[in-house]
Amino acid sequence: MADPLRDRFVVLGVSGSIAAYKAVDLASRLVKAGARVDVVMTKAATQFVTPLCFQSITHRRVVDDLWDRNSEMAVEHVGLAKRAAAILVAPATADLLAKMALGFAEDALLTTLLDTRAPVVIAPAMEGDMWANPLTQEHVAKLRSLGMAFVEPEEGRLASGLSGRGRLADPEAILGTLRQVLGRGGDLAGRRVVVSAGGTQEPIDPVRLITNRSSGKMGYAIAEAARDRGAEVTLVTAPTALAPPHGVAVAPVDTARAMHRAVEGAARGADVLIMAAAVSDYRVANPAEQKIKKRGEAADGLTIELVPNPDILQEVTGDFVRVGFAAETEDLLANAGAKLRKKGLDLLVANDVSGAGSGFGSDTNRVILLGRGGEIEELPILPKRAVADAILDRVVAILAGRGRGAGGRRWVETHR
Ligand SMILES: Cc1cc2nc3c(=O)[nH]c(=O)nc-3n(C[C@H](O)[C@H](O)[C@H](O)COP(=O)(O)O)c2cc1C
Repeated sequence: MADPLRDRFVVLGVSGSIAAYKAVDLASRLVKAGARVDVVMTKAATQFVTPLCFQSITHRRVVDDLWDRNSEMAVEHVGLAKRAAAILVAPATADLLAKMALGFAEDALLTTLLDTRAPVVIAPAMEGDMWANPLTQEHVAKLRSLGMAFVEPEEGRLASGLSGRGRLADPEAILGTLRQVLGRGGDLAGRRVVVSAGGTQEPIDPVRLITNRSSGKMGYAIAEAARDRGAEVTLVTAPTALAPPHGVAVAPVDTARAMHRAVEGAARGADVLIMAAAVSDYRVANPAEQKIKKRGEAADGLTIELVPNPDILQEVTGDFVRVGFAAETEDLLANAGAKLRKKGLDLLVANDVSGAGSGFGSDTNRVILLGRGGEIEELPILPKRAVADAILDRVVAILAGRGRGAGGRRWVETHR
């Protein structure tokens, strides 16, 4: 399943905030994601950025005047409202929020917003005191109560030079929310999906630890893809350098035992558990309370005793679809098949982490999917997001098979 923005009609509403220039970047990102973007600007917005600027990026006519006889609105004044899969208002001024909350329709943007049944995502930007003003907050609460999604402004330095909460949210947060809203009707709608990610960390002493090369990219891509397909996602993550996808509940953990507890809690009542984390098999038996000092001659060694960690996938059981990963450097299929059977998984993603363009840290991955009925599907090297969607395609088929009772359709043809 592709990006929920691909081939969708999105109206980008731009109002008269100094942050209007950031909407040009949003338009560009939307176009790159494959959306068809119709920009509708308020009169005040045109004081900050020219319609031509947006038009050059979207390659579509920009609407900035309800009364322009040559514009899209004059031909079919409710056309955009009806065609839109979603409307993103970014930036939204205090003025626009007030008018929206009162149902004004004095310009092209307000008319489109009042006349649409499409979901609306709003990213406000203004001075901190304008945002904190009870009137603004009342309008926000009213619009929220009507089902509109807000991407709240961030804290930071504002155009005035003052600091406060009012900066337009990060573009990834805005587009993440838009994707989440567009994905609501997806094939995982109403499902609860728990994903683990990253490499766990086992302390040796207060400053040293044992970890592995997992970057978390695969698990994060799965969490994002599940969100985009309508799932309610919990991401149980060991420390990574990645920003978690917006619209996903995040449970940060460090050790394998902490991950065990978090996964156990999150999996209660879940429909799917996908363990993409690289969990340390062993931990230090007795981590030192103080930093271990170098002792004696440099040639003297140091022995650290390791004890086994819990096997999370084996121990967290329940009535949910269970998906495991097997990172192997040799005998991939034999080892992966044994793991699938031993842990009673529904699906195992076997990953040869020794190959180029595959495994830890890479943006691409090469995996083989193994089903519990003996199905095997070998995927080519793909971006991790595409691998994530391929895994979720199988999960959706397994869930559908369960819905039909035993003997449901098998999720994939056997390729070999
Ligand atoms: C330089 C400048 C910057 C402004 N920036 C903002 C802003 O960031 N947020 C906001 O709510 N209003 C801002 N305003 C005020 C709005 O432009 C004004 O309320 C206008 O009527 C909004 O019209 P609109 O909501 O139809 O776009 C700014 C005004 C000026 C002159």
